[in-house]
Amino acid sequence: MPETANSVGSSGHKLAGKVAIVTGGASGIGEAAARLFVEQGASMVVIADIQDDLGNQVAASIGFHRCTYVHCDVANEDQIKILVNTTVNSHGKVDIMFSNAGILSPSDQTVLDLDISQFDRLFAVNARGMALCVKHAARAMMEGRVRGSIVCTGSVAATHGTPRRVDYTMSKHAVLGLVRAASLQLAAHGIRVNCVSPNALATPLTCASFGLETEDMQMLYAHNARLKGMVLTPKHVADAVLFLVSGDSEFVTGHDLVVDGSYIGG
Ligand SMILES: NC(=O)c1ccc[n+]([C@@H]2O[C@H](COP(=O)([O-])OP(=O)(O)OC[C@H]3O[C@@H](n4cnc5c(N)ncnc54)[C@H](O)[C@@H]3O)[C@@H](O)[C@H]2O)c1
Repeated sequence: MPETANSVGSSGHKLAGKVAIVTGGASGIGEAAARLFVEQGASMVVIADIQDDLGNQVAASIGFHRCTYVHCDVANEDQIKILVNTTVNSHGKVDIMFSNAGILSPSDQTVLDLDISQFDRLFAVNARGMALCVKHAARAMMEGRVRGSIVCTGSVAATHGTPRRVDYTMSKHAVLGLVRAASLQLAAHGIRVNCVSPNALATPLTCASFGLETEDMQMLYAHNARLKGMVLTPKHVADAVLFLVSGDSEFVTGHDLVVDGSYIGG
């Protein structure tokens, strides 16, 4: 039998001995996931990002024996290939790909004012980059006979319209299409592909976009969920990702796990 990505180690940790790549792992949701994967026994988490100083700081704070940083712009296929190859060469395999890197366009991007060069840049990262991460991770898993787990970061914008940001909403619908198609195509190889779709939350991405501090951002976004008494944090999303990459979801593939506290659109 090929190795399974889905067994609980003797330590009781959910990811004991696993090797994971986290794109966009220098910040926000990716950083929270990288930290949680290591807490849950991953033997190595490779953070792939374009913020070199921050990525190295996060890896150093986790400990270079369990976490490392690699510069990788997911809009560039060669860099993704190098990321996956160096992970396999240095750490023996890829069990988990958390394809999470994503951006917002700098302007509102309503359909009437769509700036197509911003649109193309956003798609290069959010849709094309996501597909290429799935492609190269799945190839490495197949070559290594690893029944791996791939999780892509979608959004509530993958299944709802939005008043602004048509490019972002389209790109997240594309992520869901990728997950649905890839999960069918990779199932015969024992590779699972799922999506995590958060509601809006305060991270450096959204705080920078609105020019607000974390607490103000959280108050603003509290109106997007019916669930009251708590605010969505990167750790909540990371917990959902942990479920999808661990043996707890061994027979789950092609699923969009929304983490939205009952989304209120608008
Ligand atoms: N924050 C939200 O409200 C929210 C809601 C739903 C979905 N998401 C999605 O979650 C994911 C993570 O976002 P976040 O909120 O944690 O933002 P973030 O900005 O804190 O983290 C994103 C990381 O991706 C990295 N990145 C950007 N472009 C890259 C590229 N070309 N190659 C490699 N890395 C790149 C950034 O440097 C950053 O470290 C994104 O896909 C985003 O669309 C965010």
